[in-house]
Amino acid sequence: MRVINIANLKGGVGKTVTAVNLAYSLWREERKVLLIDNDKQGNSSKFFGKHSYERPGTAELLTGAARAAEAICPTEYKGLDIIPANMNLLAANKAILLDEETPQQEHLKQALAPIAKLYDFCIIDNSPDASMSVINALTAGDDLIIPVKIDRFTFDGVEIMLDYARQVRENYNPKLNFRGCLITSYRGNEVNKTGAAFLQNSEYDLFQTRIYWTPKIDESTFAGKPIREYSPHSWAARNYRELAAEYLEMIA
Ligand SMILES: Nc1ncnc2c1ncn2[C@@H]1O[C@H](COP(=O)(O)OP(=O)(O)OP(=O)(O)O)[C@@H](O)[C@H]1O
Ligand SMILES: [Mg+2]
Repeated sequence: MRVINIANLKGGVGKTVTAVNLAYSLWREERKVLLIDNDKQGNSSKFFGKHSYERPGTAELLTGAARAAEAICPTEYKGLDIIPANMNLLAANKAILLDEETPQQEHLKQALAPIAKLYDFCIIDNSPDASMSVINALTAGDDLIIPVKIDRFTFDGVEIMLDYARQVRENYNPKLNFRGCLITSYRGNEVNKTGAAFLQNSEYDLFQTRIYWTPKIDESTFAGKPIREYSPHSWAARNYRELAAEYLEMIA
């Protein structure tokens, strides 16, 4: 199982939309995929209608209160499963700090080991912070993708995120690869073009694929359907298919 982190310290950049749609697109390429919601907001859990306080999720995995196999929920797409999250993640983040038995950054990695053979990919939808649960996700990860939305504040978030990734790589997880920034909500106006050109010429790796802005994305989140199901002919549907292809090519 290859673990892909979708992360950016900045909020509202398209992490959840990317996690859900990349998970779906890899599933469409006949891969078995586990999506992990690692955000107390529980957005990707809500997307698949799995937000709940009745069943264990990422928080319980992190604290050891549940095993991964118990926390996995199937979605309507057979072979695309999710481990949901809710506000319990807040308490879990504190509990990790108090645990003196397992190294603080390795809870998730250890929890996922028993189910690693069941999936080809695990995609982690991270919260926009550097909490212990995000450090755990990076420590368990093979790859990191940083979605960026081009605006005046885009570049601050990227630099800090890359710095965190560097620290995790040096201290806990040498196999973490930064695969690139992914431009989301791209509108092709002057500001976007200038920002994209800046990113392209910067030291940051950048996916060739860009996810175009479309009102269909917002609608798809209400419908709880991946964009390729909700609006298969939209640009964003095509872009997420291309993203999966570009990523698969990259790791081949
Ligand atoms: N390609 C797109 N076109 C139009 N709207 C988009 C696109 N991608 C994301 N959005 C919208 O932008 C908003 C933020 O997206 P999303 O929830 O994925 O961001 P996030 O980084 O996960 O946010 P948070 O940091 O709060 O978890 C949502 O309303 C989403 O519908
Ligand atoms: Mg999100």
